[in-house]
Amino acid sequence: MSDRETWATRPGFVLAAIGSAVGLGNLWQFPFKTATNGGAAFVVFYLVAVALVGFPAMLAEFVLGRRTHVNAVDAFSRLGHRKWRAVGGLAVLTGFWILSYYNVVGGWVLRYILGSARGAYFSDPAGYFGSVSAGLDAVVAQAVFLALVVGIVALGIEDGIEKATKVMVPSIVVLMVALAAWVATLPGAAAGYDFFLSPDPGAMVANAGTIIPFAVGQAFFTLSLGMAIMVTYSSYVGGDDNLVADGGAIVVTNTLVGILAGLVVFPILLTIGAEVTTGTGGAGALFVATAAGFGTVPFGRLFGVVFFGVVLIAALSSAISLLETAVAYANDNYDVPRHYLAPAIGVALFLLGLPSALDTAWLTWFDSFAYQVFLPLSVLATAVFVGWVLGRDAVAELREGTGGLGAGGEVWLWTVRVVVVAAIVLTLALGINEMFL
Ligand code: PFF
Ligand code: NA
Repeated sequence: MSDRETWATRPGFVLAAIGSAVGLGNLWQFPFKTATNGGAAFVVFYLVAVALVGFPAMLAEFVLGRRTHVNAVDAFSRLGHRKWRAVGGLAVLTGFWILSYYNVVGGWVLRYILGSARGAYFSDPAGYFGSVSAGLDAVVAQAVFLALVVGIVALGIEDGIEKATKVMVPSIVVLMVALAAWVATLPGAAAGYDFFLSPDPGAMVANAGTIIPFAVGQAFFTLSLGMAIMVTYSSYVGGDDNLVADGGAIVVTNTLVGILAGLVVFPILLTIGAEVTTGTGGAGALFVATAAGFGTVPFGRLFGVVFFGVVLIAALSSAISLLETAVAYANDNYDVPRHYLAPAIGVALFLLGLPSALDTAWLTWFDSFAYQVFLPLSVLATAVFVGWVLGRDAVAELREGTGGLGAGGEVWLWTVRVVVVAAIVLTLALGINEMFL
């Protein structure tokens, strides 16, 4: 859409944003981060972070995009603040960094589609995860997933994927609800719900310092914030769109899918007696749990293919949104056609993703760095700009199309200025302390 069309219909924008938001962040990261950060305590911090930090920050990105109708870097010059272009650059870089290992996990999903068809993981779900998640196999799978993403963007056929999103989100919800209902009958169900949903207040307080950075980072990752995506998408939105209602719909849908994933994953993990908080229960939580589940139900192979097929569509639509953002920016600024840009960026992504494909320890490091440094920095800079530099102009932009916000506009502005900024500064301090000190 580099010729500045607008979304033909309002659902066009909301659906595309949901397609970007709902992805591996919900299905893979959310159970993974919950497992490795203390279970229900993490879930509580995460939900608070989504409501108080993620949602207002998303509206800030929407305001920036719709105010300028231009990509996330040029938006700042358009508003007369050239120096702030670096913030847009940081967002593009953050997305690039994340996409490098997102592709690797996308490759795992491809492997699990094949593995389901052959029943390859039925006898040893944890061992199978270990064998496909790292090494040469993982590199090949990463390359195939990346080739799909690059191919779709280079050919400019994202429309197809956007249409697939319409089917994808309802099918994820239906599949997940069905799986969750089956999982509820397992012997480990009660222990699973307990781990996922009933926080121990003592542990919450004691571990707040290590949980908060990941909870805030998870809110940003899952909502596609700090990666220039939401700025770009909202730059195609017209003035009569209610950004608050749109943002609310995106946040609620996205949260629901994550919660469903947890309701499926934890009862299975506790039923099979997996080590929940580390190893396979960490980055492997989704894969090991669902594979173990499909190994025991009738028509497990069919279920597996369908389930991982849907996960693949979710992962593709998210990865495409990110590559598309990078290509759109480069396309706006340098006169290189997209069918050259997309493969060129793809090769760079492949190389940056190699360590993550070869060794999950590297993947975890890239991931932690994104959560604890790139995402918070990027969202912080945007919040400071929108809250303190744009200020009341931002409120006026947000108000447009809402039919009046009442005091809501001021509440939002001060939330961005103070709550979002303070929460991120805390996150950065805690995260950097944990990673480097
Ligand atoms: N919101 C996406 C998700 O939850 O999966 C995050 C995302 C990551 C989007 C990587 C795009 C992307 F390439
Ligand atoms: Na998400």
